[in-house]
Amino acid sequence: MSPRGALPFALPLALALTAPGEAPGQPFPADVRSALDDAVELYRRVRAEQLVFATDPNERYEVVVGRFIFERADDGMLFNIGDEAFELEAGREGGLGSGEPWGPFPLPVRNRRLHDGERGGLDASSCRSCHFVGGPDGGGAPSQVALLRGDGRHLDAATVRDAPHVMGLGYIELAARRLERQINRRADIAREQAVSIGMPVPAQLVADGVDFGEIIAQPDGTFDMAGLRGISPDLRLRPFGHKGRHRTLVALADEALQIHHGIQSDSRRQTRADDPSYWLGDGPPFDPDDDGVEREASAAQAVLLASYLSMLGVPRVGPPSDPALAFAWSRGRALLESVGCTGCHRESLRLDGYETTHTARGDDPFSHTLDLSEAGQDPIPHRLDFTPDDEGFVDAAVPIFAFTDLRRHDLGPGLAEPTPEVLPDGGGEVPGAVWLTRSLWGLADTGPYLHDGRAPTVHDAIEWHGGEAAESRDAYRALPEADRAALRLFLMSLTRNPTLLVE
Ligand code: HEC
Ligand code: HEC
Repeated sequence: MSPRGALPFALPLALALTAPGEAPGQPFPADVRSALDDAVELYRRVRAEQLVFATDPNERYEVVVGRFIFERADDGMLFNIGDEAFELEAGREGGLGSGEPWGPFPLPVRNRRLHDGERGGLDASSCRSCHFVGGPDGGGAPSQVALLRGDGRHLDAATVRDAPHVMGLGYIELAARRLERQINRRADIAREQAVSIGMPVPAQLVADGVDFGEIIAQPDGTFDMAGLRGISPDLRLRPFGHKGRHRTLVALADEALQIHHGIQSDSRRQTRADDPSYWLGDGPPFDPDDDGVEREASAAQAVLLASYLSMLGVPRVGPPSDPALAFAWSRGRALLESVGCTGCHRESLRLDGYETTHTARGDDPFSHTLDLSEAGQDPIPHRLDFTPDDEGFVDAAVPIFAFTDLRRHDLGPGLAEPTPEVLPDGGGEVPGAVWLTRSLWGLADTGPYLHDGRAPTVHDAIEWHGGEAAESRDAYRALPEADRAALRLFLMSLTRNPTLLVE
């Protein structure tokens, strides 16, 4: 939320910038002035670094970290280093590139938008280049869609995907863990009972109101999974990616480094050693992508990116201040529920606490734990309700207002891809029409919408809903236009704190 050249601000500042009645030409209030000074100062630092990199490429190694960084840096420093790793343009020296080994002199790197299977492409040299719409850590523009898992040559063979924004994901990961724990507990209890009584025992996998269907524990300790819904058969909840591909930010970051930048970390090589040709490339063992750079990043690189991402603040709801619009806004909020959107885009999920642990994959499973209530950037979600329930028990869970249920749904043939997505790490296959309910927080700033960015507006996004969402889409269609407008108005209040950027 507070990357290079950018500063986050709370609403009052945004209002201050446009405060009605302020005489033209009047100087900014002191807080805006000082924020602006900070942003300009950051810009100067970024420019200075660019000049250093231009003259001394080895300086770029600074952002390719080893695990020692976690021992030396405090949370704030870790955030800044992670921020650099997310923002900086990588170079050949840092492992950028694939398939073009060094000759007597370093050969130039060549970008390749079209990915070659799981090996990826070379479609960007920084994470920022696809995650900047709506501000730092934002989504992707229509012209930046990633062209994944193709044959490296034909556009038609590629899977088109739009980049979501990456704010609030640390809390999404924690909310997913909570749901996962609950359904696994239910499954374990059913299994114990089935084994002990020697008869099948069904288990309803409902957690915090999210329904993952029913499985039946068998006396031999296995499960009949035919009734399972919206989650992989290993009962692990994968909240990241449009299909629900990754369970952790570390796994996602490790993959992103390779498929977008050709940076293969030690952990990536080790976790994909079962079929290197499919996942990594045909090069030598320490340089599978065959670009002449061995051991391009340590396992710590993905842990750093995951730590950074998890520390980012959450998007917020910004209701309009105009009284007429405020009225329509509250109507829109009620309609979201009454037309059935919240059946999938659940208003809130909950976390059990703020502690999050990012564990490296591969042979060196070191981990780093953060307390997001201390390490997180503003806005940090807070516990709002301290009212005891009937038994005098105060629920310690922290709500996040992400508008998702973190499970997969079939949205019908209109949104289907021709082939299923085969997930890594035992996640199984996700059919073409099935997608993870996209969170709606931050929506206003991160168009275009849907997995491939086909929908320029939220109206279009709703119209594309089919399958399990057809009923809800039809209910939206059946509303009088004023109500549809109120619903869209509410969706447009799902935004993020204004950011002051000097670029
Ligand atoms: C070429 C554009 C591109 C670049 C560069 C890129 N991403 Fe992404 N990112 C995407 C797309 C597209 C998705 C959605 C992929 C999918 O689910 O199919 C995504 C998804 C994500 C998500 C999951 C968000 C969610 O809510 O599910 C995270 C986190 C993320 N990227 C982090 C990174 C990091 C870290 C880097 C740099 C190492 C990076 N991205 C570089 C395009 C990009
Ligand atoms: C059956 C579950 C379900 C229901 C009901 C549902 N949605 Fe969705 N929604 C999804 C899924 C899954 C996606 C992701 C689809 C994709 O990426 O192609 C999505 C995506 C969206 C998006 C695009 C978000 C983005 O950032 O790309 C919007 C906007 C949206 N839904 C709004 C609504 C509204 C408004 C309603 C009620 C009229 C609604 N949805 C009902 C499951 C549902």
